[in-house]
Amino acid sequence: MQEHITSFNFVIFGSDGDLATRKIIPALYQRFIDGQLDVNHNLLCITRSGITKIFLKSRIAEIIGLEPSALDEFFRNVKLLDIPNNTIDDYSELRNIILSSGHLQTVYYFSVPSSAFSEICNALNESNLINERSKVVLEKPLGNNLKTSEEINNIISASFEESQIFRIDHYLGKETVQNLMVLRFANHLFERAWNAENIDNIQITVAESLGVEKRAGYYDQTGALLDMVQNHLLQLLCLVAMEPPASLDADTVRNEKLKVLKSLRPFDKDSITDSFIRGQYTRGKVKGKDVHSYLEDIEKYDSNTETFVALKVFIDNWRWKNTPFYLRTGKRMKKRYSDIVINFKQLPHSIFPNSNHSLRNKLIIRLQPDERIELVQLSKIPGPGGYRFKPISLKLDFLDSFNKRMPDAYERLIIDVLRGNQTLFMRHDELVEAWKWIESITSQIKRSKMTLYEAGSWGPGDYILNEKTTWQTK
Ligand code: BG6
Repeated sequence: MQEHITSFNFVIFGSDGDLATRKIIPALYQRFIDGQLDVNHNLLCITRSGITKIFLKSRIAEIIGLEPSALDEFFRNVKLLDIPNNTIDDYSELRNIILSSGHLQTVYYFSVPSSAFSEICNALNESNLINERSKVVLEKPLGNNLKTSEEINNIISASFEESQIFRIDHYLGKETVQNLMVLRFANHLFERAWNAENIDNIQITVAESLGVEKRAGYYDQTGALLDMVQNHLLQLLCLVAMEPPASLDADTVRNEKLKVLKSLRPFDKDSITDSFIRGQYTRGKVKGKDVHSYLEDIEKYDSNTETFVALKVFIDNWRWKNTPFYLRTGKRMKKRYSDIVINFKQLPHSIFPNSNHSLRNKLIIRLQPDERIELVQLSKIPGPGGYRFKPISLKLDFLDSFNKRMPDAYERLIIDVLRGNQTLFMRHDELVEAWKWIESITSQIKRSKMTLYEAGSWGPGDYILNEKTTWQTK
């Protein structure tokens, strides 16, 4: 049975922004109508644009795909506070509401650029609004290198203890990503074979058909490596590669993830040229529609920012010695899909002399869309023609098997914040290790060549195709 969450203030800074309206508030709404959030709570939406509550409600309703009136009950707990400046005077109403609410905890969700964190923390402190029952939720980007990430961390940790800080990586809230833990650690079958002895390579792909949309300014400062690999793909890699944690306790799990990050082999001047590829999309066709090039999208014609990266990565530990992990992500790919493919080794010996297929298994964990797990194995083609094989999949399709709405990642993560469970949130030391490793790439990125690829393709030289198990260099 799901736990009922009571007595809280939930304060969203940046409530008029894209993330709050598309993800955070709809996630709270879904948990509310599911009966998981107590009727008696405060949702305090801090805005700067002067929008009205009616406007916000109709915007959220449109995103969820409902009539605004369907949100009436949920919006009874919503209070909109327009706070243009982070001064103690501007915070007086917020202060009154929180202090008079008598609620047990207050969550501050910083859905604003990190440049605003310092002022917000100061104003909250001066208004006496931070105590041991407060929590803060942070969204990436938390800096664009180790130094700036540490500066942000220093600001936050001057006001909040590490146990109160929830750094969101929404990939960890995805159902299929959590199911990866279950697949590995609640089943006997795979864990025994989950190592360099049995696995040839592992491929993690996040392909997006969208371009940079309305985030040109942010994206051009970031690029695919920092936008996707530094966080989402590395977190997926950690879950695939980590040792079995002794329990689900947040620090126990995060200690194991940290060990993986510390074991990543840094890039050097050779690997940066033969195991790292970056690309940028040119004009093309996606789903039959003509789309602009990246440079046209951002209206800046001298940008060297990558919209695609592919990397061959090694984890230097006992379990994974010399097993390549291929990470790939790109925008304006042919289709949107994310998956993790575990390619098992060729059988040590074949008793089928003329087999028409290589004798190897493949486990596909499809994260999105069509969430499913697929074990590809060889089967005999019926008939008297000798041993002829065809790869056949054992499929576990989530939608067919559970026939339930797949909750958005933010629903799970927000509930975990309210419960105080940090398992799915990045700890400070994880962030530091991720940055250190990423800097082994960024510090010498100029050595790698930018390759152009057509929008609507699979990236430069088809690197994203999962069938490709061998690494090719240009
Ligand atoms: C975000 C990135 O973190 O993840 C975006 O900033 C990207 O650029 C998005 O599009 C992808 O998330 P999802 O859940 O749509 O795969």
